[in-house]
Amino acid sequence: MTLYTPPFSNLQSIILEQCTPTSPKPLAIITPFLYSHVQSAVICCAQFGLNIRIRSGGHDYEGLSYTSRDHIPFILLDLNQLRSVEVDLDSKTTWVESGATLGELYYWVSQKSDILGFPAGECPSVGVGGQLCGGGFGMLARKYGLSVDNVVDARLVDVNGRILDRDSMGKDWFWAVRGGGGGSFGVVVSWKINLVYVPPTVTVFSLSKPLDENGTQLVHKWQHVAPNVTNDLFINLIITPVIQEVDAGSSWMMQVTINSLFLGTTNELLEIVSDVFPELGLQAKDCIQMSWIESVVYYSFYLRGQSIDVLKDRPAMPKSYFKVKSDYVTKPIPIDALEEIWKWCLRANLSLLIEPHGGKMSEIDETETPYPHREGNLYMIQYIMGWDDEDRGFKACKRYVGWVRRVYEKMRPYVSKNPRGAYVNFRDLDLGTNCNACGANYGEARRWGRKYFRGNFRRLAIVKGMVDPTNFFSNEQSIPPLVLSS
Ligand code: FDA
Repeated sequence: MTLYTPPFSNLQSIILEQCTPTSPKPLAIITPFLYSHVQSAVICCAQFGLNIRIRSGGHDYEGLSYTSRDHIPFILLDLNQLRSVEVDLDSKTTWVESGATLGELYYWVSQKSDILGFPAGECPSVGVGGQLCGGGFGMLARKYGLSVDNVVDARLVDVNGRILDRDSMGKDWFWAVRGGGGGSFGVVVSWKINLVYVPPTVTVFSLSKPLDENGTQLVHKWQHVAPNVTNDLFINLIITPVIQEVDAGSSWMMQVTINSLFLGTTNELLEIVSDVFPELGLQAKDCIQMSWIESVVYYSFYLRGQSIDVLKDRPAMPKSYFKVKSDYVTKPIPIDALEEIWKWCLRANLSLLIEPHGGKMSEIDETETPYPHREGNLYMIQYIMGWDDEDRGFKACKRYVGWVRRVYEKMRPYVSKNPRGAYVNFRDLDLGTNCNACGANYGEARRWGRKYFRGNFRRLAIVKGMVDPTNFFSNEQSIPPLVLSS
């Protein structure tokens, strides 16, 4: 185990790189090499009453793994050295440690088999630990569900420093760990996952259209097609402001990019699309056949064009500043409303990433795992506001965050209600936070907890009350303990 204390060198600053100069920093960074090091760190922090922040890939949207908004003194437990991936072809399972990135997981599985993959997120630098704690949605979700729908065991260090697995945790705890959000139920050190079949050849296409031509009609039709088409076809949308060159100079306009992963060949894909989505005008020249692992690199915007070997090198994502909020849509949005929405996005310089549900996502009951946004949800929206390094000052950040909040507010009539849903892996502290000074309170936390988990929030709080009643594993949006009197 390595222990780093301030002043942190450049190397440790990489871990804290998303922090602004004024963000609270850890008292120390502990990097365990063995599970026993994790046990010692937990026991020690619990004994000295120190808050612990667990970091796997460090991609938390609100920085909950490496800073503390509440200025509570904390130790950062950085799992990046626990990253083995052990593939067992006989059982088609893998034990993967939390500190591995999704890219490493995909890569090492692909080195053993070209017909096995795993359904998880699209960004290779995301950590396995945080992603699996919160769900794990990606381009195989319509075929195989979330990552957590394919987790069959896990090893976790609890508040008493014990290492538990699925059997010793018991049913409720194991349920909570698979999607109840990171940082609440212990330090998950490794996961046993079921690998899934991917054909040797998959097909991708990526088409961009201006929204002021027939793009809006395409988006409207997409709402009916993408959640209902065969589970082998995943089509998402990125809607973003772009600069358009016109005779008089340049101007901003909205553009939609339609990205797809199809588990089959180009000919099969063309047949399906010409039947269900002829308006797309998809042609063979738009499609590229490749292996599934190549499609992972293709859809990683900062790796496209590189060899798959780059995945094992844990390349960092380019540094960026952003605020993200999320929503679920249960009824198609009418064309005239879509046109209004593009205007709001253009004014705010805001991008939307829209991902279909349906397929396997709808076949799983909403109580099966903590992730409740199953049948009846057509798609999920991320509102993404990014800005540059020169705008990292408080005033500029406030302005950008204000814009995304305003668009989110205007979207209310078109998205899920009672409660308005959100995805816990897209952490959004605007929804509400635990009050650290007065302790985590279940009644108050329901306001934001039900948005992430709907009816599952109560069960999560009860599990928390049983396994960590003193709320040792806590952060601004951790599950508060609900201890029921007998
Ligand atoms: P990080 O280390 O920051 O952890 C996130 C949270 O989990 C923190 O609260 C942390 O304390 C806790 N935690 C981490 N490891 C833990 C462990 N071993 N045990 C217990 N708690 C732990 N999501 C998705 O579903 N599909 C996608 O395609 C994407 N794409 C994507 C792209 C980009 C660029 C970003 C920044 C994020 C995403 N996400 C995503 C969201 C992502 O899944 C989410 O932020 C994860 O929590 C990140 O996991 P990390 O391990 O990287 O984060």
